[in-house]
Amino acid sequence: MTDWEDRSVLVTGGASFIGSTLVDALVRRGSRVRVVDDFTSGRRANIEHHLKDGTIDLIEGDLRDLHLARRASKGIDTVFHLAADHGGRGYVDLHQAECATNFALDGIVFKAAKEAGVEKIVFASSGCVYPNHLQADPNETLYLTEDVVQPPYDSDNLYGYAKLMGELTLRAYHLQYGMKTASCRYFTVYGPRGIENHAVIAMIARAFVRADPFVVWGNGQQVRNWTYIDDIVEGTIRVAENIDDGTAVNLGTMERVRVIDAVHEVLRLTGYSPKIEYQLDMPTGPMNRVADNSLARQLLNWEPQTMFMDGLRKTFDWYFQTHERGAVAQTLEHMLTER
Ligand SMILES: NC(=O)c1ccc[n+]([C@@H]2O[C@H](COP(=O)([O-])OP(=O)(O)OC[C@H]3O[C@@H](n4cnc5c(N)ncnc54)[C@H](O)[C@@H]3O)[C@@H](O)[C@H]2O)c1
Repeated sequence: MTDWEDRSVLVTGGASFIGSTLVDALVRRGSRVRVVDDFTSGRRANIEHHLKDGTIDLIEGDLRDLHLARRASKGIDTVFHLAADHGGRGYVDLHQAECATNFALDGIVFKAAKEAGVEKIVFASSGCVYPNHLQADPNETLYLTEDVVQPPYDSDNLYGYAKLMGELTLRAYHLQYGMKTASCRYFTVYGPRGIENHAVIAMIARAFVRADPFVVWGNGQQVRNWTYIDDIVEGTIRVAENIDDGTAVNLGTMERVRVIDAVHEVLRLTGYSPKIEYQLDMPTGPMNRVADNSLARQLLNWEPQTMFMDGLRKTFDWYFQTHERGAVAQTLEHMLTER
């Protein structure tokens, strides 16, 4: 069992939605936590409480600068590498050149960590590594197992290819240098601190501003396994505790939810009935993406604790309590494809 109180950890991208929630969990476990973030999509407000209390150390800057990456890695036992040029479906499809900078970012972070003698690297990978051609039929009861990611690869955009290369690089680091490494394949994460470029928060935001018509990208039949943030964070820590050999493991629920079912639930919670407008020319991603999580159950004794409708309710309540209508209405269209 890892004694987190004994460890110095670095969370890259620690001001992000997932990163900052991971930071909270590591601080609760008593670790010495350093965050590096350039705040390109991360938010200072997500870590403000720690900065005020002096419970974490923050380095602000771009990790593609090798000198900064070296400084960030100094004295660290475990790196959780979450920094990425990343957004939701609109961003991943329409900003491939930006997402391609992740190849350099990941390579530099891994190299600096190795040189600094870091014991272990845990990488935030993604369901986007899975072959697109397998995920086309929304009527198929498909669960993606880790082993179907193999040549010939067919990952989701340059974002997905960069995550795949990150995983393969960490496997090589383990084989060649004996370094402890592991990758978490996150599937469509949602929850408090999420932002509007991801589907669940976008739906809630549209309801919050009482959009009418209520726009849905695609025909609403896309199947996803939205996974609640607390389950993702718990899984990430268990990956750090249990995997050393570069294995990539799915962190995702096996609940299958269609986009349109999520929309109806959000509208039910809001209590209004707008006209639903399907925009078929907007990005949808694969029609059927759901994880098989048997490997995580076997290796980590992990299984999601939050059912989608419960997590959605909590996220909905958080969003409505913490946002301001005018501000959301002003930025929503922009946020759907940006970061
Ligand atoms: N949200 C999801 O559904 C999901 C799914 C799969 C994987 N992931 C991965 O999880 C990680 C966290 O994602 P998230 O959704 O919490 O939000 P996010 O995309 O905002 O997180 C990225 C963080 O990295 C920071 N960052 C970006 N480039 C940087 C650089 N060059 N130097 C320093 N910091 C930099 C950003 O400011 C941000 O805080 C990312 O790696 C993302 O690819 C997220």
